Amino acid sequence: MLNFEDDLTPAMSQPPLGGFDAMAPAQAVNQEPIHSSALTGIHDTRRVRAEDKRVINGTVDVNQLVPFKYKWAWEKYLAGCANHWMPQEVNMSRDIATWKDPNGLTEDERRIVMRNLGFFTTADSLAANNIVLGTYRHITAPECRQYLLRQAFEEAIHTHAYQYIVESLGLDEGEVFNMYHEIPSIRDKDEFLIPFIDTLTNPEFRTGTPENDQKLLRSLIVFACIMEGIFFYVGFVQILALGRQNKMTGAAEQYQYILRDESMHLNFGVDLINTIKMENPGLWTAAFREEISGLIKKGVELEYRYAEDTMPRGVLGLNAAQFKEYLRFIANRRCQQIGLDELYPNSTNPFPWMSEMIDLKKEKNFFETRVTEYQTGGALSWD
Ligand SMILES: [Fe+2]
Ligand SMILES: [Fe+2]
Repeated sequence: MLNFEDDLTPAMSQPPLGGFDAMAPAQAVNQEPIHSSALTGIHDTRRVRAEDKRVINGTVDVNQLVPFKYKWAWEKYLAGCANHWMPQEVNMSRDIATWKDPNGLTEDERRIVMRNLGFFTTADSLAANNIVLGTYRHITAPECRQYLLRQAFEEAIHTHAYQYIVESLGLDEGEVFNMYHEIPSIRDKDEFLIPFIDTLTNPEFRTGTPENDQKLLRSLIVFACIMEGIFFYVGFVQILALGRQNKMTGAAEQYQYILRDESMHLNFGVDLINTIKMENPGLWTAAFREEISGLIKKGVELEYRYAEDTMPRGVLGLNAAQFKEYLRFIANRRCQQIGLDELYPNSTNPFPWMSEMIDLKKEKNFFETRVTEYQTGGALSWD
């Protein structure tokens, strides 16, 4: 079965599943904190050899993209560019009419839309800051940095999309943008994430010791597998379920493009994590694996509480019990992707239609609401 809901692109670097600490001997880990010039490698005038590159703690010049070593990262960069889209391309007029019509949506459906935007309006800013101020400077492979630059822009587009929906529907911006402080089920998810983001964005933090390299790996796993890989999915299912019932189709189309981008971010994160594991097998200890499994379980609990809060009763043919099963199913998938044992054996996917949503091709206009083209080079004038 190829259609896992996040298998948009094949993982280029499938590692052996599990048991990295069984790979002996452990690669020696640089015990000295790296000097800041190692972040650019610019003082090293020797020619770059692909085999000398490392995803973390590398010492060769990061300003030279080629020779390629991590082709999976470059290919994801190209795929991300091929999927480019902008929020203004999507016609919101039907959504506006539905939202303004007192009978357009039920109270439960309106609650879903509001809470969704409450979570996502700030989540993608957190994601962007995590990449730009944190992850980027710790990654020493230029192919991976190239993808992270694209990803950072995509996070900006996502924040733009949520803002565009809020503005189109004339929602109370103060209410929506403050939900991450004021609504406990949203705040709890963000509070779970923030210590892991803080690790990477702390200007004092440097990789180069086993302890700090594990801190980096832990934060990368939390960001890719829990934030982008679990915390987004209740919201995505809810809004796409609205679209499948022909309601809020503009918002649903935006979410579909975002979901496509996010599945790529997740797959990149998984490849990044697995490559760091392969290059630094000493990091993947039994104690570390157990800790990560515990974090994924905690993530599932928080996302389930968010499902209950946003959907106190059954709505759109969805109910909280289905979400419990779905979250277990995707958590198992996250574990499998990074080489951990499944946490919830025998879970199944109650929303098989989500796989089709992720497989969106740009030329396929699912909701048929696309109206404009974004500006291209053809619009330049040299006069
Ligand atoms: Fe995003
Ligand atoms: Fe993302």
